[in-house]
Amino acid sequence: MTTPPAARTAHPAVTPESVDLSVEIGPLRLANPVMTASGTAGLGLEMEPFWDLSLAGAVVVKTITKLPRRGNPMPRLAETASGLLNSIGLPNKGIDHFVDVVLPKLAGKASCLVVNLAGGSVAEFAELAARLDGRPGIDALELNISCPNVEGGNLPFARDPTVVERLVAQVRRATTLPIVTKLSPNVDDIAAVARAARAGGTDAISLINTLLGMSVDWRTGRPGLGTVVGGLSGPAVKPVALRMVYEVVRNVDVPVIGIGGIVDADDALEFLTVGASAVQIGTAHYRSPDVVPRVVEGLRERLAAAGRRRVAEQIGTLRVG
Ligand code: SIN
Repeated sequence: MTTPPAARTAHPAVTPESVDLSVEIGPLRLANPVMTASGTAGLGLEMEPFWDLSLAGAVVVKTITKLPRRGNPMPRLAETASGLLNSIGLPNKGIDHFVDVVLPKLAGKASCLVVNLAGGSVAEFAELAARLDGRPGIDALELNISCPNVEGGNLPFARDPTVVERLVAQVRRATTLPIVTKLSPNVDDIAAVARAARAGGTDAISLINTLLGMSVDWRTGRPGLGTVVGGLSGPAVKPVALRMVYEVVRNVDVPVIGIGGIVDADDALEFLTVGASAVQIGTAHYRSPDVVPRVVEGLRERLAAAGRRRVAEQIGTLRVG
C-alpha cells in the first residue's frame, strides 16, 4: 500500500500559510523579519513596480541628510567575486525634500517605515531626529553612523564607542521614535560599539554596513571606484556579518537586525539562528528586485518543513559544542 503524500509529511499540521512570521525588535513589532537595507531599495517607492511595499517586514529608506548631497564621483559601483563595491556618497535631496515631497507619497504604504539618517555631527543627528519626531507614517529611525564613503565623514562615529554612546543619547533625547543604530564592521571590537549604542539608548542594532575594500584593473591601472576605496557588500561578506552578529548577541543585551549577503531564505534563517531578530536585504535587490517577497515566502516554506509554527522559535537556536 502506498502512503498518501500528507502522511509522509514530517509535520502535517504546519503549513506555510500557517507559520507566524511576526517578530519583535524592542518596541517594534514586524509582520515578518524581512526588511530592505537602506539604499538598495531607494526611497521605497522605486520598489513599487516589483512588489507591494506592505509585504516587507519593514522598508528602510536610503539615508537622508540635512542638506542635499550630490554623492561621489563615478564610477560608484564595481562588481567583485561574489560581491559589490560601492562608493555612492549618500546622494539625496535633503530632509526638507524628504518631509515635504517623499513622505506624503510613502506614508502608509509600508507596514513599517524606517528612515535612515546621517548627520555630519552628533548635534546634526539629533536635529534630524527631532525633525522627524511625530511625523505620521514613520515608525522608526535608523542611524547611519557607519557609511564608509563620506570624506571626513561619519565612519569615525562608528569607530569610537564613547562618541557612539553620546550620539545615540542625544538622538534619544530628541525623539520618541524607536532607534536602530547601524554599525560598521570596520572596527576592532564590535561588541564594545554595540554596548555603547545600547548604553546611549538605542532600541536595536543593525549590522553590518559594508566592509572597506577596493578593486583595480591591472591592465589600465584604474581602480574600480572613483574614490578608489569603498564598501563591499553581497554574499562575499556573509560569513563576516554572521560572525559579528554572533559577537553582539553573545555579549550585549540588545535586539539585532542582521545584514550581509542575504540572497534567499536560507541565508536569512542563518542570521536568525545565530540570534538576529530580523534581517535586512541589500545587494540582492540589484539581481532580483523581488527578493524581499521571495524570501518571505521562502521562510514560510522552510519553517513549515522544519515543523516551526513561529519564526521566533528559530531565533537564537545556534548549537555550539
Ligand atoms: C553610500 O551612499 O555611500 C552607501 C551608504 C552606506 O554605506 O551607508
